[in-house]
Amino acid sequence: MEIKGAESALELDDIQSGVLRPRPTPYAATYVSFRIDDCTAGRDLMRRLSTVVSSAAASSALDASVSVALSFQGLKALRVPQASLDSFSPEFRQGMAARAHVLGDDGESAPENWEKPLGSPDLHVVVTTLAPDTEHLAAVLDRARAIYRKLPGITAIWRQDCYALPNEKEAFGFRDGISHPAIEGSGIPGTNPNERPLKAGEFILGCPDEMSEAHSIPQPEVLGRNGSYVAFRKLHQRVAAFRRYLKANSSNPDMEELLAAKMMGRWRSGAPLALCPLHDNPELGADPRRNNAFLFKKDDPIGYDTPRGAHIRRMNPRDADVAGVVRIHRMIRRGTSYGPLLPDGVLDDDGLDRGLMFAFVGAHLGRQFEFVQSEWMNDSAFFGGSVAKDPVAGASDANGSFDIPRRPLRIRLQSLPRFVVTRGGEYCFLPGLRALRWLADLNT
Ligand code: HEM
Repeated sequence: MEIKGAESALELDDIQSGVLRPRPTPYAATYVSFRIDDCTAGRDLMRRLSTVVSSAAASSALDASVSVALSFQGLKALRVPQASLDSFSPEFRQGMAARAHVLGDDGESAPENWEKPLGSPDLHVVVTTLAPDTEHLAAVLDRARAIYRKLPGITAIWRQDCYALPNEKEAFGFRDGISHPAIEGSGIPGTNPNERPLKAGEFILGCPDEMSEAHSIPQPEVLGRNGSYVAFRKLHQRVAAFRRYLKANSSNPDMEELLAAKMMGRWRSGAPLALCPLHDNPELGADPRRNNAFLFKKDDPIGYDTPRGAHIRRMNPRDADVAGVVRIHRMIRRGTSYGPLLPDGVLDDDGLDRGLMFAFVGAHLGRQFEFVQSEWMNDSAFFGGSVAKDPVAGASDANGSFDIPRRPLRIRLQSLPRFVVTRGGEYCFLPGLRALRWLADLNT
């Protein structure tokens, strides 16, 4: 999709494309992380990257693109002045591993069990390269490699290859990448015609947001302006366990599909229960003009169609009655699958690692990402529910439960295990392009 600069009130040529521009379908992506051992080399890396990072004003989503993000430790390695470091949000300064207690990262998901070097102070820079296919990706990666290869003070320490399939199915078999918010002034329409565009400051630092005309941003202004925060999370999916759970709690294959849909809030085709509660409708699921055009409050306040505990209703309750204001807890998602799919019908784990490289993009790590993860995903007080967690991605233990409202009596599923295990992640800052050059020119 093309973003027309003329339609935009935002400084698109300064904002990284990964923030605003929808990704192509299908696509291949690679995350490469770096440690900066030498500050001068780190600043040189910023200068070189600033010449290849794509801006949101670039012409077409079909192009390959490169984006760059820095952790708090990365900013320190570049010797950003202390007053500036102190102006970043407290969650970012602490880093994701230190926030494990808020995020539900306990037991197997705890930072001590994370894949190294995720969650360690060594992860400084994350470069994400994206292209419509692996051939184009290889060419862009070659160009990117030329940038850091001759910088002796920079070490590539982690790499993750990812992809989005043409049908956009993630490892559990659901169509992903459907629901995106509209952002005021961006020129990009949202996917739900019933949702009023959100103020740009919800996603881009330095713009008015839903709560204030001028919220504080990292300083100096040239560093914070047009930046965003990003939360990367490598989420392992237990696909065989998910399939076994569906089977064990259903009397036939049709019921299995219905149960999967109740847990997600959408059929695997992407068709929402809100629009087709009884039967799947793959044509609707694949139709971007219709598959996100719904609300909950008027037609389904109780959750007879879409349970209030279903993944998509928790993650975005839309107009439903919940404690809190939904509009200040929205996010841009840039999720990408990794690992081979488990072949259809297989119910035993094959030991291979597969899942989602989840990426949140927004201006507020605390009230957006952490709030949704802790209150809406891993608690249910917000909609007056029991103690249940998100049935798909929540940090359940074997005692999890999930309520499916039904007349005359609801169904309560018990013994829900954890289907998603955190392998690691980090909070990063996605600077605007001017800010990248400011980082390169630092002389502290
Ligand atoms: C492995 C873990 C996860 C899986 C398999 C998963 C899968 C999905 C799928 C299939 C959808 C529906 C398609 C769409 O609307 O794009 C969806 C929607 C969504 N997910 Fe997840 N998700 C996961 C983790 C997360 C996490 C960690 C968050 C945030 C903390 C999150 C936030 C959302 C949001 C905001 C939506 C859109 C809801 C809407 O607007 O209707 N998801 N997810």
